[in-house]
Amino acid sequence: MEYVNLGNTGLQISRIGLGTWQFSETWGVTNYEIAKNIIEKAVEMGINLFDTAMVYGNGLSEEFLGKALREIGVKRDEIVIATKIPGDYLNPEDVFRAVKRSLERLQTNYIDILQLHWPPCWHNFPTCKYMRALERLVKLGLIDHIGVSNYPITLVDEVRSCLSTIDIVSMQYRYNIIERQAEEELIPYAEENDLVFLAWSPLAKGAVTGKYTLENLPIFSDVRRTDPIFHPENFRKIKPLVDKLVELAEKYGRTPAQISLNWIIMYSDLIIPIPGAKKPEQVVQNAKSVEWRMNIHDWLELESLSRNIRITYSIYY
Ligand SMILES: NC(=O)c1ccc[n+]([C@@H]2O[C@H](COP(=O)([O-])OP(=O)(O)OC[C@H]3O[C@@H](n4cnc5c(N)ncnc54)[C@H](OP(=O)(O)O)[C@@H]3O)[C@@H](O)[C@H]2O)c1
Repeated sequence: MEYVNLGNTGLQISRIGLGTWQFSETWGVTNYEIAKNIIEKAVEMGINLFDTAMVYGNGLSEEFLGKALREIGVKRDEIVIATKIPGDYLNPEDVFRAVKRSLERLQTNYIDILQLHWPPCWHNFPTCKYMRALERLVKLGLIDHIGVSNYPITLVDEVRSCLSTIDIVSMQYRYNIIERQAEEELIPYAEENDLVFLAWSPLAKGAVTGKYTLENLPIFSDVRRTDPIFHPENFRKIKPLVDKLVELAEKYGRTPAQISLNWIIMYSDLIIPIPGAKKPEQVVQNAKSVEWRMNIHDWLELESLSRNIRITYSIYY
């Protein structure tokens, strides 16, 4: 496994993390033993960054993660737990209550990175009020670091200006070889400010793994049922890219998923993909998408194929 510095925190995180939204009804891994096997494999492969959130499975993901890490017996200071607080909980009083509950589910006395999952769009809590509450939790030792997710840049600036003695350490947004909007403003911002960029849905929810085809587009019973990526109108557009990923996978003796993840880590040293896994074999494969790099000509060919793809999001109505 490769590791990178988490800014100047002194922490080192694996070049690829494990996303654990899968441990929920939304994705279908609700059996604890399966989740534990996935986490155990991740640890075995050297992954030390675990991404979860209070809302995943209404707490189930945090609960499984905390229980498994404890049972596996990993040392607390050898792993980095990144959870998220939803925008709806950013009322200062709720911040304390929510973090306390999260710590209980995670069976730990501190969270390495508490990420703001999304802005309080419907509640309009004033930014500095909740940021001061979060900074208080850092001072109390319940949180080590703060990160943002799905925040527009202007609001990221505001969040940072509200902090008095600390700064945020990470930014988390959607980024994969098909959906590259983050390249416009977000990744350059992370690079300018030396912030780690955690890429969510790095496999485009499985669309770039080569196992789903237009002829064999499964009717998903999970969160993908209405995901625009899997709508035939969009899926048709990504076919040439997926064909190329399959071809390169054969060339390198890898899988299309590994090629896609390798493409992401080559885009920037600060991008850490956090793919989710539903089976232990998937996390093993995903861990092996680092420690090697594809040829730059192949990278460029993928880049130009993907640059021409325009996904339509206004697709169902
Ligand atoms: N901050 C946010 O708002 C936000 C939003 C979304 C996600 N996230 C985080 O990002 C993580 C990953 O994103 P995601 O879950 O949306 O999607 P993803 O990582 O792009 O795709 C995950 C899915 O791809 C398939 N897969 C994984 N590894 C594979 C492999 N090696 N070969 C073939 N198929 C493979 C699995 O589904 P199948 O086997 O069923 O195809 C898996 O459930 C989440 O777990 C979560 O932690 C954060």
